[in-house]
Amino acid sequence: MSSYITRKTPGNTEWFRHDRFGMFIHWGLYAMPARHEWVKTLELMPEEHYQRYFERFDPDLYDARDWARRAREAGMKYAVLTAKHHEGFCMFDSQYTDYKCTNTPAGRDLVREYVEAFRAEGLKVGFYYSLIDWHHPHFTIDVHHPRRNDPDARQQNEGRDMRIYAQYMRDQVTELLSNYGKIDILWFDFSYPDAHGEGEQSWLGGKGRNDWESEKLIALARRLQPGIIIDNRADLEQDLWTPEQFQPTEWCRHEETGELCTWETCQTFSGSWGYHRDEQTWKSPEMLIRMLINTVALGGNLLMNVGPTARGYLDDRACAALQVFADWMKYNSRSIYGCTMAEPDLLPACPQDCRFTQSEDGKRLYLHLMAYPFAYLNLPGLADRVEYAQFLHDGSEIILKKGSEQSFIHGSALSADTLILKLPHVKPRVIVPVIELFLK
Ligand code: GLC
Repeated sequence: MSSYITRKTPGNTEWFRHDRFGMFIHWGLYAMPARHEWVKTLELMPEEHYQRYFERFDPDLYDARDWARRAREAGMKYAVLTAKHHEGFCMFDSQYTDYKCTNTPAGRDLVREYVEAFRAEGLKVGFYYSLIDWHHPHFTIDVHHPRRNDPDARQQNEGRDMRIYAQYMRDQVTELLSNYGKIDILWFDFSYPDAHGEGEQSWLGGKGRNDWESEKLIALARRLQPGIIIDNRADLEQDLWTPEQFQPTEWCRHEETGELCTWETCQTFSGSWGYHRDEQTWKSPEMLIRMLINTVALGGNLLMNVGPTARGYLDDRACAALQVFADWMKYNSRSIYGCTMAEPDLLPACPQDCRFTQSEDGKRLYLHLMAYPFAYLNLPGLADRVEYAQFLHDGSEIILKKGSEQSFIHGSALSADTLILKLPHVKPRVIVPVIELFLK
C-alpha cells in the first residue's frame, strides 16, 4: 500500500485520486467573441454590447454525446462544465434569472444534455460555478468588474447589495444540486479578497468568503449532495487544491499542518479557457502527455480544458489534442489510474529525464521515458527489488541485468545493487514510452 496519506476532508475524494484525469469545459457566450472568456471585462464592454451575443447564441451543432465520447476515449474519467462563468450567463434553465440559455436561440437546457451524455459514457459529472458575476445587478463593481472604469462606478454601487447576490447563488446552487441527479464535483471560482485598485481607483476592492457567504453556500452544497468534492476557491479550504496553468514541482501541502492535499492542476491546450479562435500557442503532443505524467508522479490530478465553439462543437485543434491523449492512454493508462507518487525509498533510483509513478498497492512501478535513452538504463538500488519488466504499450519483455553482472557494459563502473534495463536502440512509436516494473 502507498504510504502517502492525504488530508481528510468532508468530500469523497477516494474515487477522484484513483481516476486522476478529467475534462474541464469552458463554454458560454464568450465562445462568440472567441477572444478570451474574460472579454467583457478585458474590453470594458457595456451590457448592451454584450447583449449581442445573448441574442444570437445558437449552438446548433452541440452534441454532448460527442464530447462525452471523446472525453472517455481520451481516458478522462470525470468532467466539469461551466454552468455559469464570470459573465453571469447561465447554461441551465434557472428560475432565478432570465439571463440563461433557454432564452437565447439555443432554447434548451445545455447543462442537462451534458449531464446525461457524460453519465451515459460512465464519467462522473461536475459543475463549475462562478462566484463572480458581471451581469447580476447586485454584484458590486470591484477591481475585475467591466464597469470599474465608468466615471460613476461608485454611484452605481450604491444600490447594489451583495447579500441579495449571495442568496441568488444559494438559490442557483440549490437548483444545480437538486435538479440533475448525483453531482460529483462543485468547482467555485474564484476569490480575491486582497485585490484593490490603484491611485484614484484604490476604493475598488476584491471579494472573498464574506461576500460570497461561503460558509452558508458550502454547507448548503454538502447538505444537498453529501460526498460532493468542492474546490478551495470560495476562500475556504475544502477538498481540493487547484494550481492553475502551471506544473507544480512537488505534492501540494496544507500550509499550516504540512499534510499532503488532494490536488488537481487545471491546464489549457492553448492559454485561454473559452474558445479562442486566433490563439496559436497550442501545446505540443509531448507537452500534453508530460503534463499528465508529471502530475500523477506528484500525486495529483489533471483537469484538461476544452473550449467548445459557439456552434457547440470541439474544433479540429481540440479534437487532435484529445486524440493525443486517447492514443497514449489506450495502451498506457495503467501507469495513471490508481497510481501515485513512488515511495520515497524508490525515488532516488529514477534516472534523468524519467518519471516514476507507482500503483496504490505498491506492487508496480512505472518508469516514464520523457527522453529516450538507448541501450541501457541504470536504476541504482533496485537490483534486488524487481522481478520482471516490460514495456507497457505492448507487454514486451525488457531484459534485466544487475550491476554485479555488468561486465557486458564496457567501461562503466556500476554498484552491484544497480538494476540495468536493456532497451531497444530505436524508440518505440509511443510519445512517452512506459516501462512497467513488477516489484518483489
Ligand atoms: C481563472 C479564470 C477563469 C477560469 C479559471 C479556471 O480563475 O478567472 O477564466 O475559469 O481560472 O481555473
